Amino acid sequence: MAFLSTKPATFFFFFFFILSIFSFAKSGDPDPVVDYLTSPLGAIINSTFFTFTGLRSAFTDFPPNFKPTKATFNEFPALLSQSVSMAILQYPAGSINPPHTHPRSAELLLVVSGSLQVGFVDTSNQFFNQTLQVGDLFLFPKGLVHFQFNADPQNSATAIATFASANAGTVSLPSTVFTSGISDEVLAEAFKTDVAIIQSIKTGLTPPKS
Ligand SMILES: *[C@@H]1O[C@H](CO)[C@@H](O)[C@H](O)[C@H]1NC(C)=O
Ligand SMILES: *[C@@H]1O[C@H](CO)[C@@H](O)[C@H](O)[C@H]1NC(C)=O
Repeated sequence: MAFLSTKPATFFFFFFFILSIFSFAKSGDPDPVVDYLTSPLGAIINSTFFTFTGLRSAFTDFPPNFKPTKATFNEFPALLSQSVSMAILQYPAGSINPPHTHPRSAELLLVVSGSLQVGFVDTSNQFFNQTLQVGDLFLFPKGLVHFQFNADPQNSATAIATFASANAGTVSLPSTVFTSGISDEVLAEAFKTDVAIIQSIKTGLTPPKS
């Protein structure tokens, strides 16, 4: 069998191949085999490539509704394969970042202004929550459903979220469940209610932008 070749080079190739499969299963984004990935590969670049100015507006403008301003590889291509990304989260008084998950990364949240109520639910349905002040960090484990709520009716809040993936992804539960096309009958059965209630929930929700 070729696979069990006695040639050392072949043996080591398969050894490292198998090892790499196991390490993919454990890690976040796969490690790059180059210093950084450009498009096209090997394109001539300069420090502009490693600079992202798209978060500036989050430090000058305050939105009327909850707003995440993201720096993932979609907005900042230099992040591709570097296993990091960031978002500035702005919460006007009384606003919420509804329950959602990030399938590809844990989230480390730092409150930089105001105060936030945060929480997540683990896979055994245990709820963990906290009220955070400026300077506090909170960890949302990878893939688990979580939210943040600015319960203060007077003051806004701002937080910085960091991720161990260039593209952590966001699955927002209200829109995933109610605005993706799953039928009213399926949802009524799942939530042990009737179609009219499901339709009234749907009326209050709009599909996600991205
Ligand atoms: C860096 O590259 C960009 C194009 O990617 C170009 O517009 C810019 O002038 C370059 N800057 C310097 C300092 O060479
Ligand atoms: C956690 O959530 C409960 C409601 O489920 C609330 O009564 C409590 O104040 C919250 N705790 C913190 C620390 O935010």
